[in-house]
Amino acid sequence: MRAMLCKAFGPPESLVLEELPRPALGPGQVRLAVQAAGVNFPDVLMIQGKYQWKPPFPFAPGAEVAGEVIEIAPDVTSVKRGDRVMAMVGANGFADEAVAAAVSCMILPESMDYVVGAGFSMTYGTSYYALVQRAQLKAGEVLLVHGAAGGVGTAAVDIGKHLGAKIIATGGSDEKLARVATHYGIEHVLNYQSNPKWRERVKEITAGQGADVVYEAVGGEVLEQSLRCLNWNGRILIIGFAGGEIPKVPANLILLKSASLVGVFWGAWLGREPEVNRANFQTMFDWHKAGKLKPMVSHTFPLERAADALYAVINREVVGKCVITMGRS
Ligand SMILES: NC(=O)c1ccc[n+]([C@@H]2O[C@H](COP(=O)([O-])OP(=O)(O)OC[C@H]3O[C@@H](n4cnc5c(N)ncnc54)[C@H](OP(=O)(O)O)[C@@H]3O)[C@@H](O)[C@H]2O)c1
Repeated sequence: MRAMLCKAFGPPESLVLEELPRPALGPGQVRLAVQAAGVNFPDVLMIQGKYQWKPPFPFAPGAEVAGEVIEIAPDVTSVKRGDRVMAMVGANGFADEAVAAAVSCMILPESMDYVVGAGFSMTYGTSYYALVQRAQLKAGEVLLVHGAAGGVGTAAVDIGKHLGAKIIATGGSDEKLARVATHYGIEHVLNYQSNPKWRERVKEITAGQGADVVYEAVGGEVLEQSLRCLNWNGRILIIGFAGGEIPKVPANLILLKSASLVGVFWGAWLGREPEVNRANFQTMFDWHKAGKLKPMVSHTFPLERAADALYAVINREVVGKCVITMGRS
């Protein structure tokens, strides 16, 4: 098998493509012929030794993959050889074969190709859980999505729209926001970098009421400004801090709006409630089969160009997902 290996911590160009022997399967594991692997910012941190989990050298980055099951451990019954699946693997996804826990494999709907499947798990899994289980978003509510051109952001827009919310999407690039607006048919997009008064626009758009639910994956100043344009009984979903700054919140604003700050940690929750997570994916797969979800993948790169894929993420060029393909026919 071929893998894009990290043999010592360093920048993306220090990764090396090498042949290596197949690892043996353990109990409950399956081997996948990887067709595509999703690229995420933690991949960048992992190869630099800045991620909380440090796999032993050599390892390949790549936490999520899609591919075909080619071998199963004797005790595995949930998937079989030939199944098309997506799987969370933690690391070692930038490779043409990967070992996955059978429990983490989801069988792809026929409507979904491997490229979309490779970038679907983390983004759509997180955003569905956030909007449905955590925020209990209702049709007709206003959903303000920050970082709406990113992976989890585009998924939140897509799912929120399908749930009947009125979407206001923010981001730092007019060009990326225009692509999101066109793809999802969104009327209101706001640039939080070039327009420091974006929260006033939220109030105007909502006739003074403010947003009911805020999907907050950016952090910093964006969170406090969101509290100031939140409706009564509003919920702010704390998803992440892509901007790098973990904000502090004036608690009086939460009191004044009868607001809720709602934490979201999909990766930990799915281990606690795996059956609910599976049901979430089944619902989304049904929507996808019916043509109701439109995941965005702006960049694909062959495995040889994994460093370019990582730089596309680092340089904020991506709209939706960046995916590495293994070049199989
Ligand atoms: N809570 C959970 O369970 C969970 C699950 C998955 C991910 N996350 C977190 O959610 C956040 C977004 O993840 P993602 O996969 O959607 O990432 P992504 O695809 O890289 O998107 C991040 C977005 O954040 C915006 N951003 C603002 N300031 C930025 C900066 N300084 N550097 C980079 N991006 C910046 C970018 O939009 P503009 O360029 O338009 O500003 C970008 O589109 C991350 O913090 C991630 O760790 C949380």
